[in-house]
Amino acid sequence: MRASRSYPVVLLGLVAMALALATCGGASSPAALAAQLGAPTPDIALVGAGRNAALRYGCLGCHSLDGSSLSGPTWKGLYSRELAFTDGTRAVANDRYLEEAIKDPLARVIQGYAPVMPPQMPVSDEEVRAIIAFIRSVK
Ligand code: HEC
Repeated sequence: MRASRSYPVVLLGLVAMALALATCGGASSPAALAAQLGAPTPDIALVGAGRNAALRYGCLGCHSLDGSSLSGPTWKGLYSRELAFTDGTRAVANDRYLEEAIKDPLARVIQGYAPVMPPQMPVSDEEVRAIIAFIRSVK
């Protein structure tokens, strides 16, 4: 008697489990999991190092993280944004452009800003990589 009364409950449980498995279908395969997660998680240590470098070099005195405009453009949402330069050209703020902008700030100057970014900051390649990871994380 006892066993037959709990039978529907067990059945319900099995159905629920089957449904749960079906809805996350294939999530156990690494490829499906990666697709669900989307873009790779930024390297947290690298982002932290970039944040520290940006503070140490005084970048954040001219570049805000909250959308406000200081002497330089904000880094909020900067990554992947299209920028217009005083020479009439445009570029998307990707890794390559950001590296150029940090190492050679006067190569192209963003419209609406004065060329006041210090051109000879002793930022190492490793620090540039970290700062770019940090900029990418400022959404
Ligand atoms: C004295 C103010 C000042 C400081 C300090 C400064 N910048 Fe800038 N930065 C600017 C200005 C102004 C611009 C926009 C004009 C241009 O393109 O040169 C700019 C542009 C940039 C850009 C282009 C993309 C954008 O919209 O921000 C990057 C990347 C950048 N700076 C990174 C840095 C980093 C990294 C540091 C620190 C190592 C730094 N800046 C320090 C003023 C500054």
